[in-house]
Amino acid sequence: MTTVAPSVHARDLSDAPDWWRQAVVYQVYPRSFADTDGDGLGDITGITSRVPYLAELGVDAIWLSPFYPSALADGGYDVADYRDVDPKLGTLADMDELIAQLHAHGIRVIVDIVPNHTSNDHAWFQEALAAGRGSAARERYIFREGTGPDGSEPPTDWQSTFGGPAWERVADGQWYMHHFDVSQPDLNWANPEVRGDFVKTLRFWSDRGVDGFRIDVAHMLTKDLSEPLPSQAEIEALPQDGSHPLFDRDDVHEVYAEWRAVFNSYDPPRTAVAEAWVHPSRVPLYARAESLGQAFNFDLLEADFDPAQFRRIVADNLALAAESGSSTTWVLSNHDVVRHATRYGLPDAERGADGRPTLKHGNEWLLSGGQTPTLDAERGERRARAAALFVLGLPGSAYLYQGEELGLHEVAEISDDQRQDPTFFRSRGIDQGRDGCRVPLPWSENGPSFGFGEGGAHLPQPEWFAAYAVGLQDGDPASTLSLYRRALDLRHALQTDERLEWIDAGRDDVVAFARPNGWTIVTNFGSEPVPLPAGEVLLSSSPLEGGALAGESTAWIRRA
Ligand code: BGC
Repeated sequence: MTTVAPSVHARDLSDAPDWWRQAVVYQVYPRSFADTDGDGLGDITGITSRVPYLAELGVDAIWLSPFYPSALADGGYDVADYRDVDPKLGTLADMDELIAQLHAHGIRVIVDIVPNHTSNDHAWFQEALAAGRGSAARERYIFREGTGPDGSEPPTDWQSTFGGPAWERVADGQWYMHHFDVSQPDLNWANPEVRGDFVKTLRFWSDRGVDGFRIDVAHMLTKDLSEPLPSQAEIEALPQDGSHPLFDRDDVHEVYAEWRAVFNSYDPPRTAVAEAWVHPSRVPLYARAESLGQAFNFDLLEADFDPAQFRRIVADNLALAAESGSSTTWVLSNHDVVRHATRYGLPDAERGADGRPTLKHGNEWLLSGGQTPTLDAERGERRARAAALFVLGLPGSAYLYQGEELGLHEVAEISDDQRQDPTFFRSRGIDQGRDGCRVPLPWSENGPSFGFGEGGAHLPQPEWFAAYAVGLQDGDPASTLSLYRRALDLRHALQTDERLEWIDAGRDDVVAFARPNGWTIVTNFGSEPVPLPAGEVLLSSSPLEGGALAGESTAWIRRA
């Protein structure tokens, strides 16, 4: 293991154990970040080679999407071995080196844990197939007999999240359950061996110096599968109040209480953040200190660029955070949704029956190859910059998705034969899937794969990527990259406390709030310039117009 001289941006890692409360966490999707061996797939040494970039950006931590051995049937969320590195991406020694380099630069590391399901390549699943019905090996998963006279019908009519049936038949006639892709069999969390093995995994990575964990579909692990099993219609009709057979069951917190004891046995305690798609009233259960400690708030992923929605989302989530004693998490983009620069450049979202906006508009746009409805790319970027400064001004932690600091758009130009996401295949192309936000990053204007690596890129990069390259934005003070760097640098002054006070701006299209040190954050969601409060303008997402805040822009002000 080599050591590196910390950069000028290095921060002290011995900070208080609650470093995560207001941290900026940068999500790295390893396959698409940087490729050092030229095979078109990003790798661990690629990430290491870009640690100085991450340090200069000023992030407090990175979250690594799965890098474990995987057939990549679901972008790595199909894990064949939780305690190793995919040979296509590197080795455990490479991971040790990455962790060391990040720590030397004052950046913490969060890794993704995928406990609901393994890959069908996992040794346990292979053993289950070989061992046959009634075996202990099958008890680690959810195997059932089929229905119909010869058992050739699935045990229930449940649908998988990615489309198609949630059951698959194996050679001897039994069926196994998979919430997601057929290559992702669900584990049986009633089995103590399964529980014990994940504790081992958490210790394995904690011992290697990992600082925290992102828990994939944290609300799905425990299930009540007593007979008779309910139908899909019954499952959809049952309330998700802690007693639902499949989702957000109260007993999942028994698992997390055990994990919490593991996390707290380290100094500093390891952190965890739940990816839990649950009713807002139940989010605090995951965010409690006795459970995972923090939970994602995905409300902004589903919101339009709209002042009333933004204000409500902030108020609701700060209240939920206060209820759990945790801090909230702001997310504008991740590896599962259409990038926000693109969402904001499309017509406003349609609403579902429950009045909540849907992400369908993004998919419709993808379905049409990015033609209709027309994308207003410039407007999308302008709003994306404004939204970024808005969330970075809020109390709580901010999760950035790789490429958003470049103002990057979703890629629609991926042909059917180049698509990789199982949602595309299992929905028979009705859902275009998530490949468009997972295209390898453009590091330079020219060169093979825009500096991603010496070879190609595993998903096609469009020509327009050149205009977003890091190299091009690097020295340009007006670039989105420079805006993020400046915001992250200034933001430390806001991390001294978690208070927010609303300011009545006297008009509905402006949202303003006060933060510590006399700072005011003002976002103009309208199209006309609005006057700013007296004070020094520290940062603004677009140039001021005659001293006023331009339309669809945010400014950070230090009050006079
Ligand atoms: C991850 C997805 C993944 C799914 C199944 C999610 O919530 O973010 O990328 O496909 O879990 O593991």
